[in-house]
Amino acid sequence: MVKQKIQDEVNDQIQAEFHSAYIYLGFSAWFESKNLDGFAHWMKMQWEEEIEHGMKFYNHLLRRGANVKLKTLEAPDVSLNSPKEAFERALEHEQYISRRIHKLYSLAQEEEDYPLQTLLHWFIDEQVEEEEVTGNILERLKMIEGDNSALLDLDRELGQRQDEGNEENGNE
Ligand SMILES: [Fe+2]
Ligand SMILES: [Fe+2]
Repeated sequence: MVKQKIQDEVNDQIQAEFHSAYIYLGFSAWFESKNLDGFAHWMKMQWEEEIEHGMKFYNHLLRRGANVKLKTLEAPDVSLNSPKEAFERALEHEQYISRRIHKLYSLAQEEEDYPLQTLLHWFIDEQVEEEEVTGNILERLKMIEGDNSALLDLDRELGQRQDEGNEENGNE
């Protein structure tokens, strides 16, 4: 039995993860329109990852006999002025998601929901990685500002991002 309060918060988190996906897909389209296909590819992989995150929470609720309640997705603001701005906003967004995950973890502790705590351990680690990776790319973009050939090098590099693979072999 999953407490109603927990179900509500997890359903909000599903929405937040799918909204994250939507933002990254929007950014991907922006990069593609600027002919920065490597960045576009990186953003699209990020979109896929966020869908997987949403599905982890979705499956968690269903496996425990709780209700999944899908919510409206707001259109993402993808009016960008530069690649740097995309990563500034991605980092801010990931920091916001980390705060949400931490709050959810506190709630799971208060409500003594141990299965959710276990699931959230994975997300807490994942957010450290998300912030690290996004922050590193942002730092590089700051360093190469105005240097188009360095930007194209980075574009090529990001275009090589591989699917990290789902450790759980599909949907878990
Ligand atoms: Fe996520
Ligand atoms: Fe993320």
